[in-house]
Amino acid sequence: MLGIIGGTGLTQLSNMEVTRREVVRTPYGEPSGALTFGRIGGHDVVFLARHGYGHTLPPHLVNYRANMWALHHAGLTDVVSVASVGGIRADLSPGALALPHQIIDYTHGRHATYHEGEDRAVVHIDFTHPYCEGLQERLRQAARVAGQTLLDGGAYAATQGPRLETAAEIDRLERDGADMVGMTGMPEAALARELGLCYATVAVVANHAAGRAGSRAGIRMEDINATLQESLGRVRSILEQLVDGDGR
Ligand code: HPA
Repeated sequence: MLGIIGGTGLTQLSNMEVTRREVVRTPYGEPSGALTFGRIGGHDVVFLARHGYGHTLPPHLVNYRANMWALHHAGLTDVVSVASVGGIRADLSPGALALPHQIIDYTHGRHATYHEGEDRAVVHIDFTHPYCEGLQERLRQAARVAGQTLLDGGAYAATQGPRLETAAEIDRLERDGADMVGMTGMPEAALARELGLCYATVAVVANHAAGRAGSRAGIRMEDINATLQESLGRVRSILEQLVDGDGR
């Protein structure tokens, strides 16, 4: 069964027929909210709003361990994360949708593993390819059927937030090889791998990254929100095709 984690702007799926909500207790504390169980086009899916249903949790305070544990506990095998990003690469302009293949992690102070604490053996997961290639292929296929452009590839830089970056920080991220920047990609992806979940991210470009193109003078939240409003309809249509393709 497929799980969907909605990021900024995606606190619910309008095309989802909700059957029940479940508050999952986890050994790691509270998830961002109840898991929403339902159906899209007749197929079972589970949805979780990463920042809470009222968008009250900033990226550094999201309980990523509890969220991923709860989704795994619900019996999911596959998780699509929808995450808004700033575009660094020139073709990643506001409104573009992208499928990142790599991650560079700049976050700090977040609980980034399940394998810590007394009597827990140390585990080093392989993270060479941080996303699940099988799920990415299904997303590419779903985007094709939905008639949506999903730019394939790119490195996602995960920053700590909640503030946006300085122009010099974006220059540095670009020198590091990053194509887009967001605040929630890590440790979510690594925790998914620790749990054996097949995980992929659909990145929604909300703005040019700081100091680039239309963001040279600054970034306005109203513009980000307007872009996300427009783009998330296209993400929904891809997700609809994804569950439809999976159910055949
Ligand atoms: N930086 C970091 N995270 C983001 C951005 C950004 O410019 N836009 C949307 N999420």
